[in-house]
Amino acid sequence: MNPSRTPLIAGNWKMFHGGESSVPLAAGVVAFAKELSNVDVVVAPPFTALAAVSAEIDGSPVGLAGQNLYPKPEGAFTGEISGPFLKQCGCGWVIVGHSERRQHFNETDPIVADKVAAALGSGLVPIVCVGETLAQREGGETLRVVKAQVEAFLDVIAQSAVAVAIAYEPVWAIGTGKTAGPAEAEEVHAAIRTWLANKDPKLAERTRILYGGSVKADNAAALLACPNVDGALVGGASLDPGSFGAIARAAQAK
Ligand code: 13P
Repeated sequence: MNPSRTPLIAGNWKMFHGGESSVPLAAGVVAFAKELSNVDVVVAPPFTALAAVSAEIDGSPVGLAGQNLYPKPEGAFTGEISGPFLKQCGCGWVIVGHSERRQHFNETDPIVADKVAAALGSGLVPIVCVGETLAQREGGETLRVVKAQVEAFLDVIAQSAVAVAIAYEPVWAIGTGKTAGPAEAEEVHAAIRTWLANKDPKLAERTRILYGGSVKADNAAALLACPNVDGALVGGASLDPGSFGAIARAAQAK
């Protein structure tokens, strides 16, 4: 493992635990994270739970992420949340361009690039998501599709000294119980690293490339053993501290 890329295990709670139940869940994450070394652990609760989770993880090694942001700092944008607001809530991170946002909320590559720039401008580290659909994979288009998604924000991340994270999440693997096998994941991760290196070798060195899509306690070790898999973006299994902790412990072996 490259010493500049500490494994990162991020839990995307999606639209679960937006209220009181977020606090015991966060406490469970803190309990296992305190016992870890050489793994960064981040949780991304719904906006309505950020303040409570921020208070619960205060003083612990657990980082806090928003699940989305609007690319303007403030203004007449009813219902939206900006990077500076996330920062004020205690976030150091933000997920950008998740496939559920691309699918259900019409987030295009240019919007994702704007959001990455806004995150960096707000002092947040973006975890930028890319990934192909099942039809695209079956059509042999995986690398073309993922390359276009990465190229859309490549200039933005190359202009910043911040070490961002990119999450490769094949859409067909999210919430389905199907994962890319380690070889399938590594192929795409290695390709992403090459595209970054072609832009700037230092960018390739510092960027953590996470795998996401049905990561569980029993498949995490094999995925995390891949040389270009620097961590995981975990959905369902992050809602159970036992499973999420087991995934984070598997990352310690990197
Ligand atoms: P699952 O782990 O539930 O498949 O979700 C993956 C994901 O979308 C994380 O962002």
